[in-house]
Amino acid sequence: MRRRRNQMDTNKLSKFYKKTHAEKISALKEAGVISLEEATVLTEDGLDLDPSVGEHMIENYIGNYSLPLGISTNFVIDDNEVLVPMAIEEPSVIAAASFAAKIIGSAGGFTTAVSDRLMIGQVTLKNVKDMEQAAQNIKAAEHNILERANEAHPSIVKRGGGAKALETRILEADPEENIPAFLVVHLHIDTQEAMGANIVNTMMEGIAPYIEELTGGKALLRILSNYATECLATATCTIPAHKLKTGDYTGEAVRDRIIEASQVALADPYRAVTHNKGIMNGVDAVVVASGNDWRAIEAGVHAYAARSGQYRALSKWQKNDQGDLVGTLTLPLAIGTVGGSISIHPGAKLAHKLMMYPDAKRLESILVSVGLAQNFGAVRALVTDGIQKGHMGLHARSLAISAGAKGEHVELIAEQLKKAPHMNLQTAKELLNNL
Ligand code: COA
Repeated sequence: MRRRRNQMDTNKLSKFYKKTHAEKISALKEAGVISLEEATVLTEDGLDLDPSVGEHMIENYIGNYSLPLGISTNFVIDDNEVLVPMAIEEPSVIAAASFAAKIIGSAGGFTTAVSDRLMIGQVTLKNVKDMEQAAQNIKAAEHNILERANEAHPSIVKRGGGAKALETRILEADPEENIPAFLVVHLHIDTQEAMGANIVNTMMEGIAPYIEELTGGKALLRILSNYATECLATATCTIPAHKLKTGDYTGEAVRDRIIEASQVALADPYRAVTHNKGIMNGVDAVVVASGNDWRAIEAGVHAYAARSGQYRALSKWQKNDQGDLVGTLTLPLAIGTVGGSISIHPGAKLAHKLMMYPDAKRLESILVSVGLAQNFGAVRALVTDGIQKGHMGLHARSLAISAGAKGEHVELIAEQLKKAPHMNLQTAKELLNNL
């Protein structure tokens, strides 16, 4: 397989996780990923927001709250290598993603498909006397409504986007819950590279008076929906069974156990939530690093998991005719590459550079692939060694720091903790006292 390397010398990044912090920064510089200036910032000052910027981003600003930023390695997505920046406080997530991406990368990597990026805006109407007639009036005026929406935000139209389609939904009354009927008008809006909340909200407020005229109802809500079902990304990967062999388990046994675990997560909401949380460990970390709105993504993804009426696993693992393990994941991913904090936050700016400035569709491909990798890593560990082995091994360093260890003592205490009968804070403190 031919791989485009994007002028990045990945050989310089091998065994990245075994390097010290300073070595990692200089490896990134030598690999052509970051500039000397960025290397200096990372080594000396970090990526914190300047208070003069922070105080304009939110209200009542008092300081910055940092998360560690790391890089997942080994990702090959649609034949392109990519470094994946992840902002996350939880140990073992980045290791698991890199591990999974290594196995999947050696089998051809991730293949993705991204739909048109259409955001949904809603005008929700109350007091509509004749729902069917109102819905017909809206449909008949579709062209005018789209035109008025676009007039409310002409700059997105100049960029090639804008309101593209319309649909109506009648929410039937539910007397048992004392809920009256509502009429909802949806606009599908191409927001190009932006996540588009402001564009959509402006359009919905712009068309609401006209919609009221057409329906005789009163507009109650005029805002985007974070249930981004018109903005979907899918990743698939195919892993030959022999690549799954570990310890006493044959590759076929690991494959079958992963498939069974996936079936359980499709059937049992209690397992599905944890299964999906594992997917979001990776997705959220990249959403945060890239300066996007992780609350929006979280809300949309979990609603999508419940789209059949039951909350289910977002991913599926199956066997193909050759006996390979095949994984698929589809997520609604209303992210952007411009707007919000993306061009303001120094961490977000660096994250986009690390990913070679992906456009919004490419960023979706990266996110959904990370989700699938994270899921594979966690489920593979679960059905073989158990999750605690890898997780606690890496958690040991956090425990050592919590106990008060500094500098080289962190690694020393972490190593001793791994051998101790009880890996907990008390043991870490005792080990530090004995040092
Ligand atoms: N940091 C970063 N990457 C790491 C790593 C670490 N500490 N340890 C392993 N990796 C990655 C590397 O890419 C490595 O390949 P390389 O050495 O060629 O670069 C690859 O994993 C395999 O390394 P290996 O030493 O064989 O890994 P392992 O068998 O010790 O597995 C874990 C360690 C943590 C990756 C594995 O236990 C795991 O995936 N556990 C699941 C953890 C999880 O899902 N956590 C989510 C929250 S519970």
